Amino acid sequence: MHLASDEPDVQDAGGSAIKWAFAVYAATPDMARYYLTTAIDYVNNRPHLGTAYEKVAADVIARYHRLRGDDVRFVMGNDEHSQNVFKRARDLGMEPLAYCDRMEHEFRAVWQRLNVSFDDFIRTTEPRHKAAVQALVRKSFEVGDIYEGVYEGWYCVSCEAFKQEKDLVDGLCPIHQTKPDWIKEKNFFFRLSAYRDRLLAHYAQHPAFVQPESRRNEMLRLLEAGLDDISVSRAGQSWGIPLPFDESSVVYVWFDALVNYIAAVGYGDSSPAGTSAFDLWWPASLHLVGKDITRFHCVVWPAMLMSAGVALPACVFGHGWVLTKGQKMSKSLGTSVDPLDAVERFGPDPLRLYLTKEIVFGDDGEFTWDRFEEKYNADLANNLGNLVNRVTSMAERYRGSVLRAPAGSDAGVYSEQARAAVDRYAADGMDQYKLHAAAAEAMAVVDVGNKIIAEGEPWKLAKTGSTAELDKVLWNASEALRLAAVLLTPFMPASCEEILARLGERPRGPVTWADTAWRRQGERSVQNKGAMWPRLDVKVGVKSETNEPKETHVTDQPNPQPAAQPAAADGRISIDEFMKIDLRVARVLAAERVPNSKKLIKLSIDLGTEQRTVVAGIAEAYEADALVGRHVAIVANLKPAKLMGIESNGMVLAASPDGGKPMLVAFDTPPEPGTRVR
Ligand code: MSP
Repeated sequence: MHLASDEPDVQDAGGSAIKWAFAVYAATPDMARYYLTTAIDYVNNRPHLGTAYEKVAADVIARYHRLRGDDVRFVMGNDEHSQNVFKRARDLGMEPLAYCDRMEHEFRAVWQRLNVSFDDFIRTTEPRHKAAVQALVRKSFEVGDIYEGVYEGWYCVSCEAFKQEKDLVDGLCPIHQTKPDWIKEKNFFFRLSAYRDRLLAHYAQHPAFVQPESRRNEMLRLLEAGLDDISVSRAGQSWGIPLPFDESSVVYVWFDALVNYIAAVGYGDSSPAGTSAFDLWWPASLHLVGKDITRFHCVVWPAMLMSAGVALPACVFGHGWVLTKGQKMSKSLGTSVDPLDAVERFGPDPLRLYLTKEIVFGDDGEFTWDRFEEKYNADLANNLGNLVNRVTSMAERYRGSVLRAPAGSDAGVYSEQARAAVDRYAADGMDQYKLHAAAAEAMAVVDVGNKIIAEGEPWKLAKTGSTAELDKVLWNASEALRLAAVLLTPFMPASCEEILARLGERPRGPVTWADTAWRRQGERSVQNKGAMWPRLDVKVGVKSETNEPKETHVTDQPNPQPAAQPAAADGRISIDEFMKIDLRVARVLAAERVPNSKKLIKLSIDLGTEQRTVVAGIAEAYEADALVGRHVAIVANLKPAKLMGIESNGMVLAASPDGGKPMLVAFDTPPEPGTRVR
């Protein structure tokens, strides 16, 4: 059946009627069923950080929908019928299929390491895929949308795309910077031009069909300019799926690959109508693909589906690229980073968080090792990790590791702030595919937790305050931490599981959306198991020129060394001499006592332009926890010194009365970190 308009019922492969409105139902974020897919990857190379970015982002979305209680189907896979794949296999002296089998293992190993929780993995050489491609092509042929002709023109093998002269830059493919091949061969063509108006109508009726807005506008401009018919077969090739009506040709790799989305849920299988997985899952809620291939997904794919009488997916989201030095990260351009190298650095979760939080979803984003390490320190070591550490260590120290919500406990403004962040996380973040915004809201709940501790000052309460007040502060801080862990679960599943375990929340079954409610009653046994993300000494602002991870070291590792050098001599000095001393305001980000030392506290400080570790002899006068958030004055240009094996990069100023305890230099109101002190 050929569709006459966008409105009437259409038939799916099994012959059951589907309303176009179904696609709108699928777009609703609180629906019960959620089917999402990523692009399927060419297997001529192993995954790189760019291709991995997409899979991680899709995984975050899938896990969020599971958290919401949706019935989720998450499909990924490999695109194997590319000429480059065939060539690569032959270069290695392998049969293409054997090569693809090997690559499947390699891809799966990377996705497993990144904790990508797909439900199905489809390969285009599988019989189920071949059956679906042939069923769709046959249908399109029967309705007269496929006809025979001759193609003469450019073809970029790396894009697997026919190119027009106007697409080239200086005769080269602008994406791969290679000269395309000139080909002339018998081809079958698909009447794409006939679908322009229907596509425009669909775009008008379904504003959320293509996202983000910039991509939708780009596609609209393309449609408005008019469409040419496209070639959908390649002659004289053996590697591919034969055309059902001309066995001497194979289906063009894109016409083949796009069908994976319906093949994976049973299109073209022989289940009776109404009983197949296809009826259950199609149309998809989301196709997540890179911006370089949105044209195939937003123009060619919907036209193919219309031609075959199949409903359209609810949404295609075209994400941006991971860049290296401003260029698309790519194996063929030699700018790729191996995701396993990045996972090696700190495990999968910091990488997952970095990619999805630091890159505005939909925009391009640069990956550098420096920035990755900076964000690791800021978000994980100093912020979330610090909260885990403070809650569990103070629970242990002051409450024998058991936290209780005091009767009638009121979390007041804190629970309201957390609730508002939870609401924004869903409504302004996840439900709008703004993963970066959702991650930031989850971190806002971490801030609430740190604020509860800074304002509640449990170390004072433990000495002089009421037990009920101490219980309240610690309980509320642990609640904020628990909520943050629930919200961060889609981003950092293993770490959040660990945080929840330390909070005595395990085993309890998977987290659910109901777990985002603030608990005012209860008791929890907390485990203090040390730093989850040890801090790194990273000189911010010193950019590494290469694509290699920089030499850094973990500051929390014990490393016994000789003591520090004595201070400089005194005596009168000129103003010029005084100005050589760089005195600055710094904010304390984290603080902990140096093991086996009565006097020393290790501080991680924010100097405005960089973060540093300094060791200060103030432990007899200050609790480490009480220092976090405080502004101190430091000598910023002292040579580094090792104190109890820890490199100190600066000196904290304190008044040191003879025989008395040191007193930190304080400010009336806290100046910005980095402000010069004179
Ligand atoms: N096989 C096709 C897709 C067919 S889908 C029916 C293909 N494969 S690919 O291996 O080249 O790319 C797979 C996905 O990774 C695409 O969505 C692509 O946009 C994405 N990326 C490839 N390099 C990327 C970056 N540097 N950054 C972000 N995504 C990147 O295209």
